[in-house]
Amino acid sequence: MKKKNLISLPSFREEARRDPEHLIIQENDIVPTTFLVSYWQGKFFCIKTYGCQANIRDSEKIRNFLFRLGMRECPDFSGADMILFNTCAIRENAANHLFGELGRAKRERDKNKDLYIGVFGCLMQEEKALNRLLEQFSFINLVFGTNNLYSFYELLEKSLRNDEMEVAIYSQPSYLQEGIVEKEGSRYSKYTAYVDITYGCDKFCTYCIVPYTRGKERSRRMEDIIAEVNCLKEKGYKQVTLLGQNVDSYGKDFGDSYAFATLLENVAKTGIERIRFTTPYPSDFNTKVFDVMAKYKNVMPALHLPIQSGSNRILKLMNRRYTREEYLNIVRELKERLPDVYLTTDIIVAFPHETEEDFLETLSICEECSYDGAFTFIFSPRPMTPASKMKDDIPLEVKQDRFNRLKDLIDSLTEKRAKTFVGTIQKVLFEEVSKRDKNMISGYDEHGKLVHVKGDSSLIGQIKEVKIVESHTYSLIGELYE
Ligand code: SAH
Ligand code: SF4
Ligand code: F3S
Repeated sequence: MKKKNLISLPSFREEARRDPEHLIIQENDIVPTTFLVSYWQGKFFCIKTYGCQANIRDSEKIRNFLFRLGMRECPDFSGADMILFNTCAIRENAANHLFGELGRAKRERDKNKDLYIGVFGCLMQEEKALNRLLEQFSFINLVFGTNNLYSFYELLEKSLRNDEMEVAIYSQPSYLQEGIVEKEGSRYSKYTAYVDITYGCDKFCTYCIVPYTRGKERSRRMEDIIAEVNCLKEKGYKQVTLLGQNVDSYGKDFGDSYAFATLLENVAKTGIERIRFTTPYPSDFNTKVFDVMAKYKNVMPALHLPIQSGSNRILKLMNRRYTREEYLNIVRELKERLPDVYLTTDIIVAFPHETEEDFLETLSICEECSYDGAFTFIFSPRPMTPASKMKDDIPLEVKQDRFNRLKDLIDSLTEKRAKTFVGTIQKVLFEEVSKRDKNMISGYDEHGKLVHVKGDSSLIGQIKEVKIVESHTYSLIGELYE
């Protein structure tokens, strides 16, 4: 068993506070010591990432630190000298999966006593999960939180020099880090990139753990975001996706409610070929954003706008700050300006107290919005959240039945829209060799629809016109159009 050095532990009570602290922006690069470089140079690491795009971007930042030590990456545990897990806490199964994987990592450690194991990300911000980890997995070398990414080198060195498990999870961050030098190849793709615009979330939807795991909402400075996009464009990137838990709240912390529309316009003016963003919060939208989407051809005609429920009663219990009518109004404003928009959403079924009538309202709003796709979830109680204390009075069969009915409806809507693409010409950015058929190359059209085309890997990274010849629910088949 390793000695534990508990530098700082998470506190949901601390995380729930929203103090108007002054944001400090640190603008220094972080350089590894010669000790770390000589220890890790030439060795292999493997990072397993769970959760959303924010976590993928965080894993890229850690990969950057590792590549800068001269390390190389391997796809799975075998051959790795270091295994890192970037964890997610959004639903219960995310946590269960991690503990299974840690068991597998333990078996690797039994074979190689020098194997270094670290765990970070959202789940480590959750007290119960962290305590379970500390009790059951004492072989771990390093545990850090979502706000400790930039202490990575320091913690890594400490854990090695003192041969102890370092645990560092800070709450209430009031700083942003800029100025980190990025090594070529540290992002997962050479053509599409995520760009953080806000961190954290202040919405406190009653079911959601994110405001506790990612803390207070903080916006990056516009000039830092634009500089990052310009730099990506120069390197040949074709697409950026602006990331935040509520992208359209961007700038509210520095007092500008219209800042997201301005930011989007400034990103469009960089001339990068494709711009996407995720996720917007319905009632933070203003129509200026839609005007920018309609005006600039490089802002993609796609919007992921989570509704969660179609019932006003449930929306209120969820602390979502809009009504069904307001949501429909936003969609109407959107479709007036962008008739071709590809609209998707997130929906939770079987939230506590959801009745059949409430659920039918969810089904009916899906038809009214005519969604082109949706991520659907059964409510999962998360520790400390208000909804986890509400009486979960819906029988399991009813939950599953609602989930299936919703999924059937969404699939039929998705399929209906997919059919309308057949015979049209779409611009596709090719990203990879198809997972199912080595002779096919896969990419996404402007709407974000997956398209497979017969071709070779020289297409990867290029945007080409494609004639759509066949549609399936989740993908389209096309031919290169001369
Ligand atoms: N910030 C984004 C997405 C956050 S998480 C937003 O507000 O839209 C992604 C999705 O997970 C949510 O939209 C919601 O549908 C789902 N989700 C979050 N917490 C959940 C929970 N406790 N149970 C089930 N689904 C949940
Ligand atoms: Fe969670 Fe709501 Fe914040 Fe989205 S807006 S991250 S669902 S609390
Ligand atoms: Fe999961 Fe954290 Fe994202 S909880 S969904 S990784 S913000």
